[in-house]
Amino acid sequence: MDNEPMIERYGTQDRITHWVTAILFVLMALSGLALFHPAFFFLTNFFGGGSWTRILHPFMGVLTLLSFLLLAARFGRDNRITEADRQWGKHLGEFIRNREDNLPEIGKYNLGQKYLFWTLVVTILLLFASGMVIWQPYFAPAFSIGVIRIAVVVHALAAFVAIAAIIIHIYAALWVKGSIRAMTRGKVTPAWARQHHATWYREIRKEAK
Ligand code: HEM
Repeated sequence: MDNEPMIERYGTQDRITHWVTAILFVLMALSGLALFHPAFFFLTNFFGGGSWTRILHPFMGVLTLLSFLLLAARFGRDNRITEADRQWGKHLGEFIRNREDNLPEIGKYNLGQKYLFWTLVVTILLLFASGMVIWQPYFAPAFSIGVIRIAVVVHALAAFVAIAAIIIHIYAALWVKGSIRAMTRGKVTPAWARQHHATWYREIRKEAK
C-alpha cells in the first residue's frame, strides 16, 4: 500500500485559477485597506501612490470577481454540503484536537472548507455589488446618497469577513501538512488522502481501476 503512486488533487488549470485568484485577492485587499484607514495608507506605496491606488482598486476588484467565478465554477460541485458533512461537523472538537480516527468519512472537502467556499461566494458577490454602487465617477452618480451610504457599510463588512476567511484559509492550509503541496504541485500522498478525505480517496481509486 505504501508503494501506491501519488494522487492528483488539482490539475494545472485548477492551480493556475487558484493562484491567479489568490494574487488578485491579496492586491485587492491591500489596496482596499490602504483606502480604508490612514493607518494603512503606507500600502499605497505598492500601487504607485494614493491616486493610483484609488484608480486601480475597483479594477482589481472586477478582475478578482471574474477569476473567482472561474474558480467557483471549477470547485463548486465538490463543495455541496452532504449528510456526511453534517455528521462530520458534530465531531469538530476531535478534528481540532487532531484526533481524526473516529471522524465520519468525507469527500474532497471537509465542512470547514465548504463553509469557507460559500462564505467567499457570498462576500465576493457583495463586495462586487456594493463596489459598483460606490464607484466614482462611473456608476455612483446613478444612486441616491442613502443607497451609497448603505453600500459603503456593506462593502466594509463584506471585506472584513472575506479577509478574515482568507486568513483562516491560509492558516488551515499550513496547519494540515501536505495541503500546500496539493495546490503547488497538484499531488497528495495516498496517506494524506486516506486520512483527511477517505470517501474522495476511494472514489479516485475506483476510477483508476
Ligand atoms: C493567499 C494565500 C492562499 C493560500 C496559501 C492558499 C492555499 C490553498 C490550498 C493549499 C488549497 C488546497 C486545500 C485542499 O485541497 O484541501 C486551497 C484551496 C482553495 N483555495 Fe486557497 N489559498 C490562498 C488564497 C486563496 C484565495 C484568495 C481564494 C479565493 C478568494 C482561495 C480559494 C480557494 C478555494 C475555493 C479552494 C478549494 C477548497 C474549497 O473549495 O473549499 N484561496 N488553497
